[in-house]
Amino acid sequence: MNSYKIAPSILSADYANFESELKKLEATGAEYAHIDIMDGHFVPNISFGAGVVASMRPHSKLAFDCHLMVSNPEHHIEEFARAGADIISIHAEATSHIHGALQKIRAAGVKASVVINPGTPVEAVKNVLNLVDQVLVMTVNPGFGGQAFLPETMDKVRELVVLREVNQLGFDIEVDGGIDNETIRVAKEAGANVFVAGSYVFKDDVAHQVHTLKEALHD
Ligand code: DX5
Ligand code: ZN
Repeated sequence: MNSYKIAPSILSADYANFESELKKLEATGAEYAHIDIMDGHFVPNISFGAGVVASMRPHSKLAFDCHLMVSNPEHHIEEFARAGADIISIHAEATSHIHGALQKIRAAGVKASVVINPGTPVEAVKNVLNLVDQVLVMTVNPGFGGQAFLPETMDKVRELVVLREVNQLGFDIEVDGGIDNETIRVAKEAGANVFVAGSYVFKDDVAHQVHTLKEALHD
């Protein structure tokens, strides 16, 4: 059984105070810090790079779940591994070499995760499921925090649960985008077990917000 994990996205945190924001998150009992890397090419926005991740590393024991929304992510894997990433997620749409890129992540000693956008079918990652520790199903189109959850993406979560079972694999299923105390239940019912939440966590007291997410998972 894949255990439930909450992954607050620091895209919605105060960028001038990452150290204290990470400390606050650690105290909430969240399992991961989800770190959104945007290059202004694969997605319209630019967020931050490996240097910022490396600066944050000494200040937190949380697992760093680095979501690379960048074109040709294979060129940046070693850099993020050195910066202290525990999990690196790369988009199937962002490279012609998804198989090799995932192998590169594991070779760097980091957990490998493959991401599919709302418009990308599970079929696109079927041949690499044996190479990953996690599949991230985007529940919004990537690029911005604060967008509405797309319920139609849940069919892909259910499909992945079946493929995992049939092929006797153990990957986690993460969802990202529009997760709050209601949509988290929908994603859990479909079979997801790792839940990214940005605006929901940071719009109020983070400890309280993470607590309500955890509560929603257990009732
Ligand atoms: C969107 C990012 C998300 C984002 C989620 O492109 O990948 O991780 O921070 O934000 P919310 O939870 O506000 O939808
Ligand atoms: Zn993300």
